[in-house]
Amino acid sequence: MTTAKPKNPTTYTTTLGSIVCGDSSQVLADVKANTVDLIVTSPPFGLVRKKDYGNVDADEYLEWFKPFAKQFHRVLKDSGSLVIDIGGAWNKGTPTRSLYHFKLMIMLCEEFGFHLAQEFYWWNPAKLPTPAEWVTVRRVRVKDAINTVWWLSKSPWPKASNRRVLQPYSPAMEGLLKNGYKAKKRPSGHDISEKFSINNGAAIPPNLIAIPNTESNSFYMRYCEENGYKPHPARFPSELPEYFVRMLTDSGDLVIDPFAGSCITGEVCERLNRKWKCIEMLPEYCQAAQGRFVTPASQVSKVVKDARNSKTQYSVSRPGTLWNGDEGPKLSKDGGQTRPKKEVEKKSSKTKSNRSSKSAAFLNQQSSAD
Ligand SMILES: C[S@@+](CC[C@H](N)C(=O)[O-])C[C@H]1O[C@@H](n2cnc3c(N)ncnc32)[C@H](O)[C@@H]1O
Repeated sequence: MTTAKPKNPTTYTTTLGSIVCGDSSQVLADVKANTVDLIVTSPPFGLVRKKDYGNVDADEYLEWFKPFAKQFHRVLKDSGSLVIDIGGAWNKGTPTRSLYHFKLMIMLCEEFGFHLAQEFYWWNPAKLPTPAEWVTVRRVRVKDAINTVWWLSKSPWPKASNRRVLQPYSPAMEGLLKNGYKAKKRPSGHDISEKFSINNGAAIPPNLIAIPNTESNSFYMRYCEENGYKPHPARFPSELPEYFVRMLTDSGDLVIDPFAGSCITGEVCERLNRKWKCIEMLPEYCQAAQGRFVTPASQVSKVVKDARNSKTQYSVSRPGTLWNGDEGPKLSKDGGQTRPKKEVEKKSSKTKSNRSSKSAAFLNQQSSAD
């Protein structure tokens, strides 16, 4: 007698968690109401250009998301949070942005009863200047290097502590702490008291999270290569789920990633002693995800620690740093609708080198004037 294959098979378990292969709206239907502390996930984005794991178009996105939203709200505890990492998208054929991820956040709040606890921006300093047509060919937009991360909660008071995500002081703040700080009123009228000059050993982070997405040599990648699996093409870096797992849950709490991909959320939870469930629809990703758990946790922790220790702070130049007063050619009146001809591009690269030498001279002048 052959037994029927389970619809949503568990493909891997540890003492803390499991990878379930199936559609998360169905898998979540079997999860008890009010039992989950955190849902942290990166759903398939409503990209205009479809990816090979089957994104739906931006317009259909909200409808597609509704069954998941209903389950997310049901399974979360009142103290729980829903954290969604979601990138923006360009509208097809024009250099304008889709509103789908904003609409998603508004729908989750207005139709499903979530609260926007805080919006975060994940800046990927390693992001390439795309889409090339708007950014590097017509030069009418800048590079899109952030994802929005919506931190939503079931009640206005989700459990949370920013003490879990403190970071080193910036060099500027270190300087202030060392050289002293004079309490005074800011131009905004804010009274900055002496309290700001107290060295607390670490800084409260802003809602901008800087992490390059450059992982290429992890245990997971090696496992994929050795076993002939295609690595998941849209993995988020472990520091992203880790930030929210630390800030929003305690040891032993339950975390679910309903669009788990390579199951990085499970790997993070395993390290941080949280219970976890990773749900992924495609069997090949579920199988490859096992590679995250075959390496002893102590080895993983060491590699993670070493990588962190080697990281420096990222910085963004102040706007206008290279500005020398030379505006170059006039702005195109059609907003870039006409594609620049090759000669124009060549000419402009000559002007550019002219300009950069002018900029250098200008900057030298400036610094000697400082
Ligand atoms: C952006 S990826 C997530 C990547 C993941 N954060 C990582 O770092 O590996 C989204 C994943 O959701 C999966 N997915 C799409 N629809 C799903 C559904 N209904 N149930 C479960 N997984 C689904 C896709 O197969 C894809 O692997």
